[in-house]
Amino acid sequence: MQITLQNFTKKFDDVTVIENMNLEIKDGEMLALLGPSGCGKSTTLFAICGIHRVNGGKILFGDQDVSDLPSQKRNVGVVFQSYALYPHMNAYENIAFPLKVRKDKPADIKRQVHEIAKLTHIEELLERKPGQLSGGQQQRVALARALIRKPDVLLLDEPLANLDAKLRLEMRSEIRRIQLETGITAILVTHDQVEAMSMCDRIALMHDGKIVQLDKPSEMYNNPANKFVADFLGNPPITFLDAEHKDKTLLLPNGHSIASPNLNAAVKKVQVGIRPECFGPQFGMGVKGVVKFIEKQGREELFDIQLTDGSILRSIQASGSDLEVGADIDWGLSLDDLLFFDMQGERL
Ligand SMILES: Nc1ncnc2c1ncn2[C@@H]1O[C@H](COP(=O)(O)OP(=O)(O)OP(=O)(O)O)[C@@H](O)[C@H]1O
Ligand SMILES: [Mg+2]
Repeated sequence: MQITLQNFTKKFDDVTVIENMNLEIKDGEMLALLGPSGCGKSTTLFAICGIHRVNGGKILFGDQDVSDLPSQKRNVGVVFQSYALYPHMNAYENIAFPLKVRKDKPADIKRQVHEIAKLTHIEELLERKPGQLSGGQQQRVALARALIRKPDVLLLDEPLANLDAKLRLEMRSEIRRIQLETGITAILVTHDQVEAMSMCDRIALMHDGKIVQLDKPSEMYNNPANKFVADFLGNPPITFLDAEHKDKTLLLPNGHSIASPNLNAAVKKVQVGIRPECFGPQFGMGVKGVVKFIEKQGREELFDIQLTDGSILRSIQASGSDLEVGADIDWGLSLDDLLFFDMQGERL
């Protein structure tokens, strides 16, 4: 089911949180609403769900304007950060609940619960109460309960936030598998860029109630529209250096210069965005500095390098170097992958 927001506006009292947002979620796609805390992700999801009324604009499911429909009439499946399972019911009864409310026949209910339990890999757990299930298992039950009525759209608000790191990884790919197997249109609210990039077809990156960029994950990573996007995506994050632009050359603060044949000659000052994977010994030499900090992350090592002028660049490399803090380095930059921004942060 295609979901469309047309000039969607949401106010709380006289504070406008979202103003004239336009967004189309394609049929069968999984879209992330990504952004920092307070940017309006949940507000947008709640409006699609029908928990919040819109104060302006429309929300369409397919061709139908659902803006004035209450939540129960929208056929949405919802999973929140807290699983909100009924503690006194076992998993089977929790999942069956929406069908009982709908007064389906007991034999139909049984068949559907077993079908959905198979899809979510919880067939063995149906007799257990929520208190006897791990966080990841509870989240599977919550997912099964959300999917059992075959909703037109699955709405997920930080569904993995309460899980530990390993379970989060596992549930990431599980939710995506289930979404792909069912072909359901899904919206995932998250502030975790890795989650958004790894689970979703497209990302709507939000900032202060606005969508700053809507793109496929790799496109958004490689071609950020502005400095906010470049900074938000990527872990460890990108670093920026201020540079002087003159005669098709950028002069970095440490005296290093790099060719920049495509920049407009009128631009005098540039912020150069350098991702950690774009700085290292494999790119030649010319950028001199001192190792200030090393973080070993298992397969990779992260270096903070202080350049001769005092500015810091980050570098990530495969583990195995014998460098120590205090060592002098002379490394290079992957010139094709540098990102240029004006002083207002817009991409050049
Ligand atoms: N019921 C409410 N009444 C008043 N203000 C609200 C209400 N709900 C949200 N807000 C405000 O709207 C803004 C957006 O909130 P929202 O919950 O959508 O953010 P979010 O992006 O989901 O953040 P988080 O990642 O912290 O969950 C915030 O400034 C918040 O304080
Ligand atoms: Mg939220």
